[in-house]
Amino acid sequence: MSFKTIAVIGTGQMGAGIAQACAGVAAHVIAIDPDAAQRERAESGIRKSLAKLAEKGLVTDPQGVLARIKFASHVDDAEPADLVIEAIVEDLAVKRGLWEELDVVCRPETVFATNTSSLSVGAQAEATDRADRFLGLHFFNPVPLMALVEVVSTAEVDPQFVGRATELVRAMGKTPVLAQDTPGFVVNRLLVPYLLDGVRALESGVAGIADIDAGMKLGAGHPMGPLMLLDFVGIDTVVRIAGIFHAEFKDERHRAPDLLTRMVKAGTIGKKSGKGFYDWAGTEPVVRSLK
Ligand code: 3HC
Repeated sequence: MSFKTIAVIGTGQMGAGIAQACAGVAAHVIAIDPDAAQRERAESGIRKSLAKLAEKGLVTDPQGVLARIKFASHVDDAEPADLVIEAIVEDLAVKRGLWEELDVVCRPETVFATNTSSLSVGAQAEATDRADRFLGLHFFNPVPLMALVEVVSTAEVDPQFVGRATELVRAMGKTPVLAQDTPGFVVNRLLVPYLLDGVRALESGVAGIADIDAGMKLGAGHPMGPLMLLDFVGIDTVVRIAGIFHAEFKDERHRAPDLLTRMVKAGTIGKKSGKGFYDWAGTEPVVRSLK
């Protein structure tokens, strides 16, 4: 594997999963987050996930994988990395600020990859002096189980780095899909309007939460319905993506429905907050009554 040391910036739900996937194939992973509580949650989540995968024979050395991840608190800790993958908040200005810092911290040959779900990869690359080594690696939640990674090219990236990133994805046992730098790439471009339509169906009284989800699960063969998937991905994340799409495409179908905006204000943003369309406190999610 050509990337021996990989730094992952941000250890939220996506960053932790990406660090875990990288530790399966790289010699060293540096998982960086300034928030100590977040780092602890990430470590405990990775430990649980590896134990589950080991139980099923999908990981043979969970201790070894965990031991390859070093948790750190500062961007400077990314200095030894051959590849840096960021998984921080979906905000262009914040991401550009991070890349500016990393461009100084890291060696000129280090490759940069963003896990953005909907922002321009090229607009992030412009914040650095290495647009030829800058691409998108878009993972899916939950990272340890999802078989896809979108590998996103810009007009400036050197194809040899796209090739090395594609090799990394394959080494993880995942399937790479090559996409161009357009909003939402392949999956979110198609998925997000569908999720928003699921909420509009609820708002306009087409059916209740359980029936909308059962309809798409059993009638369309999806692993989970749109409202449960919103809880799963994070309603705050989907509202942010919808805002980016709406600004870009100027299409009403991309406007976040009022219900979602209210849920973000109330902090009921899905599984990670314990409540969304479902209550996630127990062993099984339970439909909530939303007024
Ligand atoms: N690590 C290891 N094991 C895990 C795990 C994890 N992170 N999460 C769940 N599992 C295990 C469960 O413990 C369970 O184990 P068991 O068989 O021993 O009970 C097993 O996986 C199956 O899980 P569940 O029984 O909970 O449920 P499912 O069979 O439905 O599988 C799922 C779970 C793979 C999440 C499936 O429901 C699914 O594919 N859902 C759709 C997910 C999806 O669409 N993700 C993409 C979202 S879009 C995105 O991420 C892009 C972003 O930019 C917005």
